[in-house]
Amino acid sequence: MEKRMTNKVLVINGPNLNLLGKREPDIYGAETLASIEDKCQKRASDLGLTVEFRQSNTEGEMVDWIQQAEDNFDILIINAGAYTHTSVALLDAIKATLTPVIEVHLSNIHQREEFRHHSFISKAAKGMICGFGGFGYEMALDAANSILKND
Ligand code: DQA
Repeated sequence: MEKRMTNKVLVINGPNLNLLGKREPDIYGAETLASIEDKCQKRASDLGLTVEFRQSNTEGEMVDWIQQAEDNFDILIINAGAYTHTSVALLDAIKATLTPVIEVHLSNIHQREEFRHHSFISKAAKGMICGFGGFGYEMALDAANSILKND
């Protein structure tokens, strides 16, 4: 059966991203997750997309959201936080879904500690944006728009 196209994007944020604004601002900037979401809502409406933002500190909940996305969303944007570097469960969930996934990180993970250089998410994501702070989420929306309109 053909997938229904609704141009709906789900943005999943992983552990500690609820602390943006006060968490290591020298690395992650002063912007809060709510402010990033606001900008994404504006960008999405300009592009004719709808976007839903979620955040969880729990790996299993993120797995559930990835599994359920297929029924309600056309594309996923994920910043898995520290689970990026540890979670085979998130990788398996992404491999199992038909929904395309775009990986985002605020910081440039390749300029940081060695343990942040490897991403399990990248093994299955369509592409990855890192190092542009909160603006990376808007870049990911542009990428989502191009995937949705061209695929
Ligand atoms: C992060 C990078 C991760 O290494 C870190 O654990 C995070 C945030 C980023 O957005 O730069 O929590 O995903």
